[in-house]
Formats: sequence, structure tokens, C-alpha cells
Amino acid sequence: MVSSPSAYPVEFAGIGRAFATAKRKGAAPESRTVLRDVSLTVDAGEVVAILGASGCGKSTLLRIAGGLDAPTAGAALIDGTPVAGIDARCAVGFQEPRLLPWRSLADNVALGLPRGLDRGEGAQRVARLLDLVGLGASATLRPREVSGGMAQRASLARALARNPGVLLLDEPFGALDALTRLRMQDLLLDIHAAAPTTILLVTHDVDEALQLADRIILLGGEDGRDGATIRRVVTVPGTRPRDRGSAALAELRAELLDGLGIDRHGRALEDLHSSTIPVFPY
Ligand SMILES: Nc1ncnc2c1ncn2[C@@H]1O[C@H](COP(=O)(O)OP(=O)(O)OP(=O)(O)O)[C@@H](O)[C@H]1O
Ligand SMILES: [Mg+2]
Repeated sequence: MVSSPSAYPVEFAGIGRAFATAKRKGAAPESRTVLRDVSLTVDAGEVVAILGASGCGKSTLLRIAGGLDAPTAGAALIDGTPVAGIDARCAVGFQEPRLLPWRSLADNVALGLPRGLDRGEGAQRVARLLDLVGLGASATLRPREVSGGMAQRASLARALARNPGVLLLDEPFGALDALTRLRMQDLLLDIHAAAPTTILLVTHDVDEALQLADRIILLGGEDGRDGATIRRVVTVPGTRPRDRGSAALAELRAELLDGLGIDRHGRALEDLHSSTIPVFPY
């Protein structure tokens, strides 16, 4: 099994992020607040899912945790020390696999190894990770020779190659078909059970959040205020793997969908009250 990394706690301390908006010549500089007052402590080894409407700042928050972006207020801390620049204690996984097409899967996974690792040890770690994600027999294939799910598994293995203390996943299964997605969720749970790193997971999928997370953070705006903040923190009951059909989760699911502005029957509440949205067939 993959050797267990030390999992680190992550803290968001009063995070704010405003982006400069395109300014007209001679006009005063303007900015748009995307995140405001985001404060949260994530325990070492905890899995936290971040839910919120498109454009509310989920990826921005994740990027700040990994040092890929800097906040304009507050700070992100990993294991008590502020994140300043790309942080080697984190590994990031994205919605698309982002593999190098001219390299084999094994060589792509090897890109995630920490610098200075002994060659033999690196090769062993890559082989172990490929086995772990079910790609042991596909190590020499190039990305174009494998399916989307296989490429995404290779991408996950690359993220794990560093033995990260914090794994940041931005809609990692978003581009996969429903069945592959469920399998990937189970795989992530297995990986976490074997080496419980801290995971921050951005997802649009409420069921995925309920299946994987210890806690779910709902990001969103508040009337009359700029930028999104944490609107709810939900502790998911029960231990993983959870029964996908449980009644307690169904109730929580409805509450979270409500928080996202979707009613129980799957319609966006805003749409229901708007007469300007065209009705199918257009
Ligand atoms: N580098 C940037 N410069 C200017 N604006 C940005 C930048 N990065 C993000 N934004 C803006 O910040 C807001 C939040 O973006 P972000 O990508 O974090 O949203 P998100 O919640 O991840 O959305 P989605 O669910 O669609 O991925 C968006 O309005 C986006 O336009
Ligand atoms: Mg995003």
C-alpha cells in the first residue's frame, strides 16, 4: 500500500478575494469581490466538500489553499503556517486529467513525484499507485490510448505521487459518466482509508458530497452583500462508505439542494419564478 503521508490541517482565516475589473482609461481602479470573510478549520485527515453555484468562488478558494492564487484579505494556513506561493504540501487534481500526451501513463504519474526522490524508489511508488488506481496493466499506454476514466485515474495517481498532506480536488469526476463517477468515488474512499490525507473537494454533485465528505460547506452570496461566503456547514452523519439510499441522507440532500436554489423536484427555484426563461420546446 502507498505509505501514509502526514495529513495536515488547513485553515482559512478571514479569506477575501477581489479581482480587478477592466478599467476605462483615466477611471479609478475598480474591483469585484468574489469571496469575503471565509473562515474555516479543516482537521488533518478530514474530507470537506465545497458546494455552491457556478461562479461563486469555489475554485478560487481551492486555488488559494494550494497557493495558486493569493487572497486580498486574510490568509490560508496549512499545518499552522501561511501558504505563500505554490505549496509543496498540497497536490491538486482538476476536472480534466491534464496529462502530457506524449508521455506514457507511468511517466505522467512520475511527474507528480517529489523532487530529489531516489529513481528506484520513484519507480516503485509509481507502480504501486498505478496498481492502486487499477492501471497496473496500462502503465505504458499514452493518454490517447485510454478512456476518460482511465486518464482521470492516472491524474489522481499523479496527484498522490507526492504523498500530499493536503489533496485539493476541483470537480475531479465532473467529466465522467455516471457509473465511472461512482467507481471513482469508491476509489477515492479506498485511497483515503489507506492513507487518510486531508481532502478539499469541490463538486457540483450533492450526492457525491454526501457520499465522500465528513462535512459539506455551502458557499454562496447574501442579499445586499458582495461576494460569497460560507452559508452553511453540514456535518454528514454516519461512517463511510454510506448507504446511498439512506433516508437521513435523502433529507440532507433536499436541504442542500434547497440551499443551492434547487427544489426537491430538481427545478431551479429562480427559474420557476421567472417569466423570462423560455420553456421547452424553444
Ligand atoms: N483570475 C481572475 N481574474 C478575474 N476574475 C476571476 C479570476 N478568477 C476567477 N475570477 C472570477 O471569480 C468568480 C469565481 O470564479 P471561480 O472559478 O472560483 O468559480 P467557481 O465557483 O469555481 O465556478 P464553477 O462552478 O463554474 O467552476 C467568477 O466570477 C470568475 O469570473
Ligand atoms: Mg470552478
